[in-house]
Amino acid sequence: MKIFVDSANVQKIRELNDLGAIDGVTTNPSLIAAEGKQFKQILREIAAIVDGPISAETVSLDAAGMLSEAEVLVKIHKNIVIKVVNTPQGLKAAKALFKKGIKTNVTLTFSALQALLAAKAGATFVSPFVGRIDDTGADGMQVVRDIVQVFKNYGFKTQVLASSIRHPVHVLEAAKAGADAVTCPPEIIEKMFRHPLTDTGIKRFLEDWKKVQEKNLDK
Ligand code: E4P
Repeated sequence: MKIFVDSANVQKIRELNDLGAIDGVTTNPSLIAAEGKQFKQILREIAAIVDGPISAETVSLDAAGMLSEAEVLVKIHKNIVIKVVNTPQGLKAAKALFKKGIKTNVTLTFSALQALLAAKAGATFVSPFVGRIDDTGADGMQVVRDIVQVFKNYGFKTQVLASSIRHPVHVLEAAKAGADAVTCPPEIIEKMFRHPLTDTGIKRFLEDWKKVQEKNLDK
């Protein structure tokens, strides 16, 4: 499963990329707003760091507007993936972009039926928002499982990108469901690295190695 970082913070992205932890990046208007920097400049900086898909979101509500935004965004770097919202106009834009050979990420997807329509439009990625579905009292991960099943049944090539990830168990469940990718806030990826038994294990090994050194047996 590919791991993308859901962030527009260039420093965090660099740190995680240096660790070899990420395969791509997703951004959205809220993440861009949090940085207080120029949108295209952020995308250029990310593209210089990460060698993988970088999702950049359009903000028009009509297909024509999305297509003209896409035209500008794809010129920034070959790895830019155009995010369009899962609406009739968004899917119309996704289909037109597919015909032009431009990769898309159909975002704000909350049901398997919306995902099916995105796949039929030729989306490269579809992003079910697991955490936001959970917030409504429904089961976000079940939507991921349903999408994986539907795509498998019909051989759709659209990749399932589990999004709105709130904790490491979401990542585990997405992997068990067979999602192609997951996009996580940096702190979730950082948590995935950690286990208390690894820390206590290191402490014990180092204490024992000190005893080896004291007896001059470390050669
Ligand atoms: C996906 O592409 C979105 O950027 C993201 O996962 C939304 O997550 P949120 O619900 O935590 O804002």
